[in-house]
Amino acid sequence: MAKMWDARFSKAENKRVNDFNSSISFDSRMFYEDIEGSIAHATMLGKCGIIATEESEKIVAALRQIRDDIESGALPIDPEAEDIHMFVEEVLTARIGDSGKRLHTARSRNDQVALDIRLYLKKEIGEIRALVLDLLSVIVKVAKENADAVMPGYTHLQRAQPVTFGHYMLAYAQMFIRDDLRLKETLARTSVSPLGSGALASTTYPIDRHLVAELLELGGVTENSMDGVSDRDFLIELAFDLSLVMMHLSRFSEEIILWCTNEFSFIELDDAFSTGSSIMPQKKNPDIAELVRGKTGRIYGDLTTVLTMMKGIPLAYNKDMQEDKEAIFDAVDNAKLCLELFASMLDTLTVKRDNLRRAASGGFINATDCADYLAQKGLPFRDAYRVSGRLVAYCIENKTDLESLSLDTYKEFSPMFENDVYEAVNLDNCVNRRTVYGGPSKESVERQIKIVNAYIDAQK
Ligand code: ARG
Repeated sequence: MAKMWDARFSKAENKRVNDFNSSISFDSRMFYEDIEGSIAHATMLGKCGIIATEESEKIVAALRQIRDDIESGALPIDPEAEDIHMFVEEVLTARIGDSGKRLHTARSRNDQVALDIRLYLKKEIGEIRALVLDLLSVIVKVAKENADAVMPGYTHLQRAQPVTFGHYMLAYAQMFIRDDLRLKETLARTSVSPLGSGALASTTYPIDRHLVAELLELGGVTENSMDGVSDRDFLIELAFDLSLVMMHLSRFSEEIILWCTNEFSFIELDDAFSTGSSIMPQKKNPDIAELVRGKTGRIYGDLTTVLTMMKGIPLAYNKDMQEDKEAIFDAVDNAKLCLELFASMLDTLTVKRDNLRRAASGGFINATDCADYLAQKGLPFRDAYRVSGRLVAYCIENKTDLESLSLDTYKEFSPMFENDVYEAVNLDNCVNRRTVYGGPSKESVERQIKIVNAYIDAQK
């Protein structure tokens, strides 16, 4: 195909150069946004009297037809085209002749591509946020069902203090709420129109940038034409937001992987979300969780790609910036897959409450409560802590636990122990006495559930 710029050039482009330069294989996925942007631009050109109204209408009608034809498959995308912008313009001109050639008046591919990627990511952020909210709903459901399922909480992966499975789930809810808030902010910075920035120095035509923004339902226009064409911060921000989403999903996946081992046996994954082994008949593997954990690295890679790609670019547009697309598309595609599959996996897993309880009974996770009991009776906490430590050592030596010791044994360690010590070390009491705001007690978990639900509703 002849190049748009063959008037200035005396040699045809080398085939290898064309392939190297071309971005059509990946930017064709922005065809819809490219055409929407062009429709808004053509409408504005007509309204401002820069081209004739009939011409503007003709362009808009033809663009709509091109959009429909690409959608229906009637118009296949030419893999030899340089990029989606050139392809659409070439088809337009082939279809309506000179009118098509007027579309690019007062516009450059530099502000065009900057607009397209913003429109495209705006749509994607909306979809990603919906998936995050779906995941939050599943987390709340699981938390509600297990609000009183006592289990050990860990530090250093050693049993530490009692919590409930519900409280555990709601810790993740908070992470995903923060993720959603970040996405919401990124969306606001993405939904701005750079069109009218031109190649870098705007244009001499009397265009109306605000009208274009309005037609495209964007929140406003960029303030500086050089920044307008060369800013990709919003895209890098999104890659970062998604990296955090993935980091949270990856930690959660790691818990799931541990919890389905025989060693923990806290949960069982639904058969539909596990895989078997080709040699070991007994295996039921948590592949989904492992893949989510694995893909986290790849999305960090995408973030590093776009950050590094931008760091040495002088103002304004440089072709390096074409490299932003594959990275951000990869991050978006994979984060969406992970969010969706993780939520379904979580929704269908079985919590083995008896095993949670057994694990909670085994690790002296009420030793702090035993110390608190003595402290409440007047012993300074540091002394109480030592008594409780000696009791734990005694229990380990005699293969027993704090719930099973006789009162006489307790009294050997401190005369302050009375019958009510059994209430103090009872696991349910240990949890439910932690009524502090943000704590694991039943009422606190119920309050947390209300807060998360209110957040979800407020976003709809
Ligand atoms: N395919 C290009 C990109 O993704 C479009 C902009 C081209 N602009 C240019 N001056 N070569 O960045």
